[in-house]
Amino acid sequence: MNAVADTPVKDGVVADTFVDFREVFLAYDNSDECAVEDISLQTRPGEFIAIVGPSGCGKSTFMKLATGLKAPTRGTVHIAGQPVTGPLKFVGMAFQAPTLLPWRTTLDNVLLPLEIVEPYRRTFRKDRDKHVERALALLKTVGLDGYADKYPWQLSGGMQQRASICRALIHEPKMLLLDEPFGALDAFTREELWCVLRDLWTERKFNVILVTHDLREAAFLADTVYVMSKRPGRIVARRENPLPRPRDIDITYTEPFSALVHELREHIGRVRST
Ligand SMILES: Nc1ncnc2c1ncn2[C@@H]1O[C@H](COP(=O)(O)OP(=O)(O)OP(=O)(O)O)[C@@H](O)[C@H]1O
Ligand SMILES: [Mg+2]
Repeated sequence: MNAVADTPVKDGVVADTFVDFREVFLAYDNSDECAVEDISLQTRPGEFIAIVGPSGCGKSTFMKLATGLKAPTRGTVHIAGQPVTGPLKFVGMAFQAPTLLPWRTTLDNVLLPLEIVEPYRRTFRKDRDKHVERALALLKTVGLDGYADKYPWQLSGGMQQRASICRALIHEPKMLLLDEPFGALDAFTREELWCVLRDLWTERKFNVILVTHDLREAAFLADTVYVMSKRPGRIVARRENPLPRPRDIDITYTEPFSALVHELREHIGRVRST
């Protein structure tokens, strides 16, 4: 499935494309069967995409390919016009379980990528005050004003997840990868964090790949939703989100929203029954 088949191609890369997967296959070591098969997908710069599909279909594998943690067995992956040849630095990630380090305060957890990732690493000590200021501002945006000095075990699950999102964004990544980031949260906190993510994205327009089992989450947040089949994972549907922006939680109670969720649900039903 080529979303932008009519767009001009230069050196094999579609112009004005950020993520560019072309006929990508991946078989893990020593496996005859592919985990993902024939994935072709292009995103526009700043686009927010969601990937939904049954457990084990290859969603996390797709993420590994998009960040260069795994190389395709066949096919090509370009990000920002460059072939992906190894782990990318301009990526922020957050996962289902917040992975904060228990011996570090919230602030020091958020600052962690700057201590590791170049070009920040070299000058981290010298620029620390400036970074702390940015980290505190980011914590404030996600509603964690006043929690910078607390340790992860002093925060609720939702607060830890907010801090994880700050950590994923502190080095101003061009691409944010979210693998079931809100899966473990209660429905109210989840919706609150949808709005936090929506606001951060609206302000900064980074590229987002969100993996989720929650079709409402995909419908609320994404510009485009991709549905993957059971293993070996293929993209079986691509749906542009017709809902206008800005979107508020109220939109989730409207008829067009329900219709979109229903349609996605039908795709998943078909995928699960085959
Ligand atoms: N490191 C690995 N080595 C070998 N096989 C793997 C590895 N990681 C994943 N797989 C296999 O690849 C397939 C896809 O796994 P993946 O983790 O991408 O699925 P997923 O869609 O993210 O599932 P879930 O929704 O449960 O997180 C699965 O069959 C899994 O067993
Ligand atoms: Mg996964």
